[in-house]
This record gives sequence, C-alpha cells and structure tokens, in this order.
Amino acid sequence: MLTEAIYSKAMEAEQCKKIEQLLSKLGDVHGTVLDIGSGPGFLERYIDCIALDSSLKHLKEFEGNRILGDGNSLPFKSGGADWIFCMDTIHLLSLEFWKELKRVLKPEGKAVISIFSSRLEKLKPTGFDIVKEFEVSGEKERDIVVVLEENRRLLQH
Ligand SMILES: C[S@@+](CC[C@H](N)C(=O)[O-])C[C@H]1O[C@@H](n2cnc3c(N)ncnc32)[C@H](O)[C@@H]1O
Repeated sequence: MLTEAIYSKAMEAEQCKKIEQLLSKLGDVHGTVLDIGSGPGFLERYIDCIALDSSLKHLKEFEGNRILGDGNSLPFKSGGADWIFCMDTIHLLSLEFWKELKRVLKPEGKAVISIFSSRLEKLKPTGFDIVKEFEVSGEKERDIVVVLEENRRLLQH
C-alpha cells in the first residue's frame, strides 16, 4: 500500500491522464457531484464536486469541498446527487457502498465507477444497469469505466 505522499506524486500524471479521457467521454457533468475516495483531489482539478475520503492527509492536499468519511456510509441526504464518481476505490469498499449509492443518487442520477483492470473481478454493481462502458489508459495501467443508472425493473416491485 502506497503512503499518501507517495501516491500523490507517483500517480498524479497517471490518474490525470485517465480522468481527461474519462471526462471527454461523459460530456456535460453538472449539478451535485460527489467524488467518493477522492484521494488527493485529482478529479477536483477538472470538475466542481464534493470530495469524500477516509484519509485526512489526502484531503489536506487540496482546496475545496472536502469531507472526511467512509464511502460505505455516506454522510449525504437521500436522493440528492446528480453524479457520483468513485475512481479506483471500489476495491477498497464493501457491498454497503452499493446500497449507499442507490440511496444518495437522484432517480435519474448517474454513477461513474472506474476500476483498475487488474481488479475487475471486484466490480459487482448490485441493483444498477451499466449504461456505458469504456476503457481509459494511464501511463502504467488501464481502467475499466462503467456508467451506471439505477435498475428500473427493481423499482417496479
Ligand atoms: C487508489 S486511491 C484513488 C484515489 C483517487 N480516486 C484517484 O483516482 O486517484 C483510493 C482512495 O480511497 C480512499 N479510501 C479507502 N477506503 C476508503 C473508505 N472506506 N471510504 C472512503 N475512502 C476510502 C483512500 O484513502 C484513497 O484516497
């Protein structure tokens, strides 16, 4: 496990490269946007969002709306988020995250989850439909990105 200082330096170019590709494929991201597992705030350089991370050291590395918290128990009201990003963090979260994602997203909201391709088996988006899927490449690793919407069939029951 990389320490925060090492992660921030070692991964800056890698993560920014992936974020630029990812955002170019998503189009307009607006409204209330959350970034779960923000790390040192790379995504926050590109879009206006509320960052949540369990590491105070990471949160101190950037300015803006930052919350120290646990991605498995989101300190946000139900149905308030238009977009929720979770980049290269899902492998560190539990199944509770999916319940929280469902609770906090607006009914028409979208979740954007990226995962290191080497950890793909950890991606189990329970209760969501994948509406878009693509790859982004950093300097070292490839990520799989899925855009999710709440599974409408489940809502009818
Ligand atoms: C691999 S880093 C990814 C950071 C950032 N999203 C990026 O793409 O560079 C994983 C991040 O998840 C955070 N993290 C780990 N467990 C967490 C949890 N339970 N809740 C919130 N953040 C968590 C770590 O502190 C770290 O910042």
